[in-house]
Amino acid sequence: MPHPYVLLSAAVSLDGYLDDTGPDRLLLSGPADFDRVDEVRASVDAILVGAGTIRADNPRLLVNSETRRAARVAAGKPPYPLKVTVSGSGELDPDANFWHTGGDKLVFTTDQGAQRARALGLAADVVSLGPELDWRRLLEHLHEERGVERLMVEGGGRIHTQLLQQGLADEVQLVLAPLFVGSPEAPRLFGPGAYQSGRLRLVETRRIEDVVLMRYEPTAPGTGLVPAGADHHWLALACELATRCPPSQTAFSVGAVVVAADGTELARGHSREGDDPVVHAEEAALAKIDPADPRLATATVYTSLEPCTHRASRPAPCARLILDAGVRRVVTAWREPDTFVAGADGTGTLTAAGVDVVVLGEHEERAKAPNRHLA
Ligand SMILES: NC(=O)c1ccc[n+]([C@@H]2O[C@H](COP(=O)([O-])OP(=O)(O)OC[C@H]3O[C@@H](n4cnc5c(N)ncnc54)[C@H](OP(=O)(O)O)[C@@H]3O)[C@@H](O)[C@H]2O)c1
Repeated sequence: MPHPYVLLSAAVSLDGYLDDTGPDRLLLSGPADFDRVDEVRASVDAILVGAGTIRADNPRLLVNSETRRAARVAAGKPPYPLKVTVSGSGELDPDANFWHTGGDKLVFTTDQGAQRARALGLAADVVSLGPELDWRRLLEHLHEERGVERLMVEGGGRIHTQLLQQGLADEVQLVLAPLFVGSPEAPRLFGPGAYQSGRLRLVETRRIEDVVLMRYEPTAPGTGLVPAGADHHWLALACELATRCPPSQTAFSVGAVVVAADGTELARGHSREGDDPVVHAEEAALAKIDPADPRLATATVYTSLEPCTHRASRPAPCARLILDAGVRRVVTAWREPDTFVAGADGTGTLTAAGVDVVVLGEHEERAKAPNRHLA
């Protein structure tokens, strides 16, 4: 099920704290960065904070700029994004600013928490996600029931930690403020637990007065049939590579990337790359990796079109090459149409051989774009 794009946003001290232990919220950024946050808020469909942040900071979570609100309305959106909170206990203060400012409000909670939250008469919709809070179901609900395409998550630490550890974040926007907190009881941005191994991708750094904004993307593929935020980034790259293929009337334009479990790119390729007029994308990428590389067994192949199963120009189709390489996971955007081969079913062939194949249909139009002339 498609999810919204999930953007985690936070400011931290140089020693990694989100706040101090005092009664008032610690201001980590200055006016220019608060204005940047306002701009990001204006660009999303929903903003989420945990119940802990409502209790500690009593935030309003508004789009403060009238111009930005007017632009949202002109684009057919409500002036303020949907405000979302998460509470297991359902113990929420009905007088908090959260409920009385800005746009529509939504509480995600558990069966038990829902009873309590409903009894409070909050000015909000209350949705129970069952006995436990399930983040994937929460994101599916936001997408399916509320039409949320972009979600900004503004903390606190418990929320950010879970979304990142569960592979559900697409982007982290982190502001580093030049001050120290130094108190071990203060809340940290990320708590202990299992994060992706390997490095995130740094996509931007920006100086804003005396703070620095850093934007990161997670890189580690999901596992099995469960997609992670990074799967979308890698598949988008495969679709972009497909646009670089020399044009052909007799073959698809496809891009492929092979990525290790820790998020390291092992190789990339695209159809007809270099001097080879018939090479396929997966074939080109796999040919660049030592077949003895132990990372292949836990790697993911991203390919804009599902791997082929029939090949006139070469002895082995790409599904066979993937199996021979020992790769057990493939993520693709587009099932092969009958344009050149009737009944092609690379997904079926790979699945029958024990490979997990994830089809992320959200990317299908991008995968098709360089192949429109073949339709
Ligand atoms: N610097 C920044 O950018 C920034 C931004 C935001 C917040 N903060 C700071 O962060 C601190 C608050 O962070 P926090 O970690 O204590 O709170 P939080 O992450 O905002 O919220 C935690 C609460 O969310 C609910 N929750 C989260 N995951 C859940 C799950 N899996 N199941 C059920 N309920 C779940 C629980 O609510 P219930 O207790 O109701 O069950 C939990 O107590 C504050 O000091 C605030 O100032 C800083």
